[in-house]
Amino acid sequence: MTLNIVVGITGGIAAYKAVGVVRALVLAGHDVHVLPTEGALRFVGKPTLEAISRNPVHTELYEGVAEVRHVAIGQAADLIVIAPATANTIAKMAVGLADDLLGNSLLASEAPVVIAPAMHTEMWRHPATQANIATLEARGVTVVGPAVGQLTGTDSGPGRMEEPEVIVAAALAVAASRSAAQPGDLAGRRVVVTAGGTREPLDPVRFLGNRSSGKQGVAIAEAARARGAEVVLIAANLEVADPNGCEMRPVSSAIELQAAVTEAARGADAVIMAAAVADYRPANVSEQKIKKDASNDGLTIELVRNPDILAGLGHAPHDGTLLVGFAAETEPDDERLLELGRAKRRAKGADVLVVNRVGWTEGFASDDNSVVILGSDDEIVTRLHGTKLSVAGAILDVVASKFAHTTDDRTTKAADPA
Ligand code: C5P
Repeated sequence: MTLNIVVGITGGIAAYKAVGVVRALVLAGHDVHVLPTEGALRFVGKPTLEAISRNPVHTELYEGVAEVRHVAIGQAADLIVIAPATANTIAKMAVGLADDLLGNSLLASEAPVVIAPAMHTEMWRHPATQANIATLEARGVTVVGPAVGQLTGTDSGPGRMEEPEVIVAAALAVAASRSAAQPGDLAGRRVVVTAGGTREPLDPVRFLGNRSSGKQGVAIAEAARARGAEVVLIAANLEVADPNGCEMRPVSSAIELQAAVTEAARGADAVIMAAAVADYRPANVSEQKIKKDASNDGLTIELVRNPDILAGLGHAPHDGTLLVGFAAETEPDDERLLELGRAKRRAKGADVLVVNRVGWTEGFASDDNSVVILGSDDEIVTRLHGTKLSVAGAILDVVASKFAHTTDDRTTKAADPA
């Protein structure tokens, strides 16, 4: 779907990188309208922005009055991205100032807003900026970054604008999840998501791991957040950027993940176990780096079983907490794959199970995924091939519909005198 996207560019040196944001959005097939502030045009020229966006660029509030441009742009937008967002613009947004075309367009719009702050570390950490950011987040604005790294001068720290591809991915994720199902249908829900792959230590420098990047779990966390949930993300060695607005609980091994998820699951509305958890761990962790043994060509490592965390939750009383498990299988036959999924759902006591095929080239690290979602009667609820974000949306649709049913059940029971 082509989106009408407004990209606000404000006056910071990172404005030159905003060209990359505009270009990526145009190449993704969207209709992009750039609104630079006066300050932004000191860093990047209007002809560049017109050429890259393939649309005229307007800056003047008092131009185009007949077409009521100061409200028309905001009203037509499906998504507003501000990159870079300076401390000044963030402050103006927090109080709702409309002294330029960008400010007017923001106030005239109901579209989701994503901002990528860029400024010096001191300015970012200043209580005024932090208070403004908190105000914007409370209003539903998605804040991407800032990244930590080298700033314009010789100094470094938090304040660098996030890379264009990270901003674009986050922005499109917000737009996709707002357009999916009902926006805010997970508001008031606490959702715990596990993502990534565990590492089981052998010695201080080595571990047994797996190829899970964490992309699918992070997409679920990001989408749940965008639909209004309070999200706790238990993150096992992620190879992707942290999602915005989620409470992060970093873990490494299966035992650490178990402790974190058991604690977070208390009182949660849903636990979505997307992490690839090792089934076994080394029986002994060497305090010293294991040395090559000159007298022996081989090395035998004894492994012991890890607890099955999902089954532990599934077989304990978990009234009111919906459990979603994953089954990543290499089984080539579709029917057999589903059988494995159904058996796994029952064995683990999960309410919903997401089955996907993995292999040397399938499943891991890629942006796409093919899944079958099984419900609590072993029925196929959804079959889907798409981006990990659209898969996240489908899983959350199932979660949201289960919530709706349990709420209906509770209402009916409460209303039933018997
Ligand atoms: O048994 P298998 O590893 O295929 O099960 C996958 C599902 O179970 C995933 O949801 C995963 O997060 C969870 N799991 C677990 N504890 C383990 C192994 C897997 O919770 N030790």
